[in-house]
Amino acid sequence: MKIAFGNDHAGFDAPEPFYKPALVEHLEELGHEVLDCGSFDPEPVDYPDSAKAVANAILDGKVDRGILLCGTGIGISIAANRFPGIRAAVCTTPFMAQVTREHNDANILCIGRRVLTLDECKELIDIWLSEDFNGAERHQRRIDKIE
Ligand code: RB5
Repeated sequence: MKIAFGNDHAGFDAPEPFYKPALVEHLEELGHEVLDCGSFDPEPVDYPDSAKAVANAILDGKVDRGILLCGTGIGISIAANRFPGIRAAVCTTPFMAQVTREHNDANILCIGRRVLTLDECKELIDIWLSEDFNGAERHQRRIDKIE
């Protein structure tokens, strides 16, 4: 799968291992192609910029899905959800990661460096990438109402 990855400086919060490079490496080890939309170091940046880059990569058809990482996952999800066609979901549990694919057809997973362990992030990513939208009429109808 082609995946756009975006983050702010929280992706480089100490201590190491820094979540951003570790999660990109995890995705590549799984065989995914990652479009890295930054940021690339601990220098403070504004999370809406990364959210915009990832949202546009999806809307332009350059990637299949996106993953966004900030301190909580919240700010960057709010920013991404301003783009019509983007359904960005903050997830903190495996159940949320599963259901937001099955029911919401979320095309961006948002996770928080300051909320989750690195292993928890990897687990949520693995689940979220392996789940499909279940296509039920009631779920599609609700998504259509959002759009
Ligand atoms: C940055 O310090 C922090 O505010 C950001 O990463 C995120 O948590 C916002 O929702």
